[in-house]
Amino acid sequence: MLDELLFKTRSYRTFDSTEISFEVLEKIVSATRLGGSARNSQTLRYTLVNSPSLCHKIFPHTAWAGAIPWSPTLEEGPKAYILISTLKDSPLSPITLGMDIGIASQNILLKATELGFGGCLIGSFNKMEVPQILDLDTEKYSPQILVALGKPTDKVILTEGTEGNLKYHRDLENNIHYVPKLPLKTLILKKF
Ligand SMILES: Cc1cc2nc3c(=O)[nH]c(=O)nc-3n(C[C@H](O)[C@H](O)[C@H](O)COP(=O)(O)O)c2cc1C
Repeated sequence: MLDELLFKTRSYRTFDSTEISFEVLEKIVSATRLGGSARNSQTLRYTLVNSPSLCHKIFPHTAWAGAIPWSPTLEEGPKAYILISTLKDSPLSPITLGMDIGIASQNILLKATELGFGGCLIGSFNKMEVPQILDLDTEKYSPQILVALGKPTDKVILTEGTEGNLKYHRDLENNIHYVPKLPLKTLILKKF
């Protein structure tokens, strides 16, 4: 069951018109409470967005699938966002804080998938404009990653990759995204 959920939890980049309620977004963010946190410091905070006008405002400040010359259209764009921010006075080092952010991000995507949605982590967003649009108190919080969400219309197919040949590609006509993943034998260095 977990394998199936992990398999389905891909980066989706085009969405239909289905909206996502705050009730659903809160369930999704609740999943972050169950993740580990270095020193149990819990210094991540979340801004939830499902207003169509705000989603439209944020969209031009996001960058998609940088490896290919393609982007979703505004209409295909996300129907909700979760901005993950960190407290500026977090006691964690940047790398450790990054681990907390990674764990929370993956829990968000997993829960979204379980609830019939999907999304994409957007590291490439405008760190000045988006916080401003969302009225984030940047004296207190640092914006870290934006999770784009919706009901996916694209299909993602995993293929076998090799080191140095991991570029994803997209069949634009059929809206299928192909993602190479390294085989286990490449990942495991040694077995003693
Ligand atoms: C930290 C992080 C930042 C990412 N930022 C972006 C981004 O800005 N735009 C985008 O389209 N995808 C982004 N992605 C998605 C990756 O491109 C995607 O995870 C990768 O191609 C593998 O596909 P998969 O998630 O379906 O396994 C990001 C992923 C991670 C983990």
